[in-house]
Amino acid sequence: MTSGVPETGEDTGLRHTPRRVLITGAANGLGAALTAAYRARGDEVLATDLNGRDDVFRLDITSGEDWEAARDHVERTWGGLDVLVNNAGVAGGGRLDVATLEEWRWITEINLFGIVRGTQTFVPMLKRQRSGQIVNVASLAGLVHPAGMASYNAVKAAVVALTETTGHELSPYGVRAAVVCPSYFRTGLVEDLRGADRAFAAVIAHLVATAPLGPDEIAAEVLAALDRGEELILPDAAARTAYDLKLGDRAAHDAQLRHQAQRLESL
Ligand SMILES: NC(=O)c1ccc[n+]([C@@H]2O[C@H](COP(=O)([O-])OP(=O)(O)OC[C@H]3O[C@@H](n4cnc5c(N)ncnc54)[C@H](O)[C@@H]3O)[C@@H](O)[C@H]2O)c1
Repeated sequence: MTSGVPETGEDTGLRHTPRRVLITGAANGLGAALTAAYRARGDEVLATDLNGRDDVFRLDITSGEDWEAARDHVERTWGGLDVLVNNAGVAGGGRLDVATLEEWRWITEINLFGIVRGTQTFVPMLKRQRSGQIVNVASLAGLVHPAGMASYNAVKAAVVALTETTGHELSPYGVRAAVVCPSYFRTGLVEDLRGADRAFAAVIAHLVATAPLGPDEIAAEVLAALDRGEELILPDAAARTAYDLKLGDRAAHDAQLRHQAQRLESL
């Protein structure tokens, strides 16, 4: 740490030194909740989203030009960045023989290449600073892969791999990385859910709408986990239970997912 700004978890306990945070997909859901949670601690947040507003900087994560404009803005305004939160994402999925290749490309362009672009844009700055943190929002689907959502599972697993690689590769520079893997929580994520598999989309929409937690609770857990220095963050009990089962009893885990898959037969 050379910027004089403590990294996550280095709060003195007396007064939190403000950090400079950029969050993508911050107009709604988890991004908005994370923005509020960081600001409540006194951090400065550049909230960004697809459509700019007075209080939200326009950053379509699939646009290289938008990323460059965001980096220029950060450099001009702050002279550096402490935390990049790659949160923006879309929901997709569908059964193997129903989802189209076009849908696979669409979700990969946003949920994976959007984060790759953000990483490529800010890594030179973080390396120069020899400090900072990249927080990528994946999903439990990146670790536990239910039937019927191969494209979402695959891109979120790629985000887990990208984040682990980032953490290893940038460790010599004092830059850290963490990946967030929540189970379903209540947001508008599925409102724009695309795809040919409409029956599957209805199942996912129901799971999100009836989830026990909302984005504020997930955001609070994420910040607490970052404070503890966690790099793989499972912010809710459902996610922890499912991943623990996969690690601890693979046969039971497989049996559970195959039982769930039988329900897809009736769609
Ligand atoms: N809600 C869940 O159940 C759930 C579970 C696990 C993981 N996640 C992940 O959490 C993240 C946030 O999702 P959410 O549930 O808050 O959804 P949300 O739809 O409420 O918010 C996502 C935000 O991302 C923005 N966005 C979409 N495409 C964009 C683009 N190309 N460029 C910039 N911004 C874009 C949207 O405008 C929106 O404001 C996503 O990565 C999602 O995959 C959500």
